[in-house]
Amino acid sequence: MKEEFYQELVAIRHKIHSRPELSWQEVETTDFIKKNLISWGIEILETPLKTGVIAQIGQPEKGKIIALRADIDALPIEEQTGLPYASEKRGTMHACGHDFHTTALLGAAYELKQREDSLNGAVRLVFQPAEEVEFGSRDVVKAGHLDGVSAILGFHNHPAYPVGTIALKSGGIMAAVDHFVVSVAGVGGHAAEPHLAVDTIVAISALIAQLQTVVSRNVSAREEAVLSVTQVHAGNTWNVLPNNGFFEGTIRTFDADTRSQIKQRFEEIVDNLSKALRVNSKIEWLDGPGVTFNDKTLTEKVVENSKSFANVVEALASHGGEDFSTYSHILPGVFAFVGSNGDENAPGWHHSSFVVRDEALPTAVQYYVNNAIMLVNE
Ligand code: NI
Repeated sequence: MKEEFYQELVAIRHKIHSRPELSWQEVETTDFIKKNLISWGIEILETPLKTGVIAQIGQPEKGKIIALRADIDALPIEEQTGLPYASEKRGTMHACGHDFHTTALLGAAYELKQREDSLNGAVRLVFQPAEEVEFGSRDVVKAGHLDGVSAILGFHNHPAYPVGTIALKSGGIMAAVDHFVVSVAGVGGHAAEPHLAVDTIVAISALIAQLQTVVSRNVSAREEAVLSVTQVHAGNTWNVLPNNGFFEGTIRTFDADTRSQIKQRFEEIVDNLSKALRVNSKIEWLDGPGVTFNDKTLTEKVVENSKSFANVVEALASHGGEDFSTYSHILPGVFAFVGSNGDENAPGWHHSSFVVRDEALPTAVQYYVNNAIMLVNE
């Protein structure tokens, strides 16, 4: 990458970083992406999406279409990095580095446009809105933007890997996410007369403790799984037993059988223990992304090809969720981690002090450009 263009990209990233927008509100970001693409002569495709940009380089009638995806939204977090280009919007921050992803795809768009004549097909650029909360990927699919596409590549910055590193593995690289809410109804009463009540708080405590045996006692030690309870609420004073309460949390898995086994044990424990403790419990399952799954053949190709410009290492799967999973379930996909810091103790994704180093941009751009050209032309 030419030094002059690198400096331009850094300026683009700092600009996007300073103007973060939440999911489905990425209006300014969308305009900024379009403005850059148009200035480089890149074709923007029609879309029914409220925010986000779909663009294309090359000639689809000549051959295959390969899609490159970057997410563009930010988070409701107050930035505390102290960076000169920190968020200008109170309470909103690019704390997951989607500003970096957006910039890398813009950089790739520019580089691919310079080499458009060498493409025996086309590259579709997907600047996807609403990754964080709203499944923007589903709307991209529903709009038909992946129709006729042969494969899709995406990545996430990863602060634990050094700049210049690409981490990859075939199979699950980011977890399936389940979100549960359990409401528990006992019978309220005076704190001094628990024998006349049914104690919701004792029941919730017992349920949470028992649920911790699912991963430790029911899931094979060879499988990866996490079950965390993250919010508990019951009662509002010291001398009254509450009528009801609730707790919620999340389950992370990489395998469909393990996922359904955990859900089954979860339901058995909640139903039967609630019966024994005489409370009425109701479980609500909320939809999260499935496993982000890397196609084996495609991953091998991307690993080999990426060795020419990056230090390629075997990725450790992340227990985080990623809505790229929507794509990798309908067509061959590869999702990589691009090293963005190299300090294992650096603040992680969704942290108010999270920082991505600019120096990681060239590797991210090359990941998109070199692999897209390889796949379009093979
Ligand atoms: Ni993210």
